[in-house]
Amino acid sequence: MYKILKAETLADKTYLMDVHAPRVASHCQPGQFIIVKMDDKGERVPLTICDYDRENGTITIVFQAIGASTTRMAELKAGDSFRDFVGPLGQPSEFISEDIEELKNKKILYVAGGVGAAPVYPQVKWLHERGIDADVIVGSKTKDLLILEKELEVVAGNLYITTDDGSYGRSGMVTSVIEDLVQNEGKHYDVCVAIGPMIMMKFVCLLTKKLNLHTIVSMNPIMVDGTGMCGACRLQVGDEVKFACVDGPEFDGHLVDFDQAMARSRMYKTEEGREILRLQE
Ligand code: FES
Repeated sequence: MYKILKAETLADKTYLMDVHAPRVASHCQPGQFIIVKMDDKGERVPLTICDYDRENGTITIVFQAIGASTTRMAELKAGDSFRDFVGPLGQPSEFISEDIEELKNKKILYVAGGVGAAPVYPQVKWLHERGIDADVIVGSKTKDLLILEKELEVVAGNLYITTDDGSYGRSGMVTSVIEDLVQNEGKHYDVCVAIGPMIMMKFVCLLTKKLNLHTIVSMNPIMVDGTGMCGACRLQVGDEVKFACVDGPEFDGHLVDFDQAMARSRMYKTEEGREILRLQE
């Protein structure tokens, strides 16, 4: 059993938990994810790692209550436990394997949409701890839904907040902030990392392709086993078929077929759609 040490509400339907999982905490890296299961009958829920504390053996997860399982998860309190907490899964962020001295010469822009701020945070923190301060854009529908602003402020070079309704920070989509920074404010970036809803990552990639800015995305398709066996998280990346759970979750955003990924995610929402996908696999 994996004990929840802290459970708090970050925003409407958005929750943060610190979970005691020493084995995962001992060797996880930014960019990786875990799969949690509440009990024997519970659905397996994949969640990216938002933070980790190797000394105390804890993993921080952030999730939105959007389906039956995550709504039940949101009711858990400090002292409750998860039945399973499997990980770390997937590959660490591309930057983890790069030479630090080379990385120091790169200007990096992170773009987070909604709860995408959670997986962005450990990457920016990891870079900051090594003397590299990346710029970060966080987009949120409204001020009330914005998460991890204070934490990101500490580790980001420059933090740009934008809200769809203009209730806080700049107004509009993250793509208009990228355009502003690059085209109007003359900023130069060597690489962009975009994490958030697929539709946001798709539009960021359409723009960065035009700007000739290499872009990494973290894909969050439906996952079932998380081990590359079931095919649920299959993606088309360039002319290759990839599995987000073992090959990713990060990929070259300019090669990902977002329309196909979004269509597959929609199909997984109905039993009929799941059957069609099962037959195709
Ligand atoms: Fe089953 Fe990736 S979740 S192959």
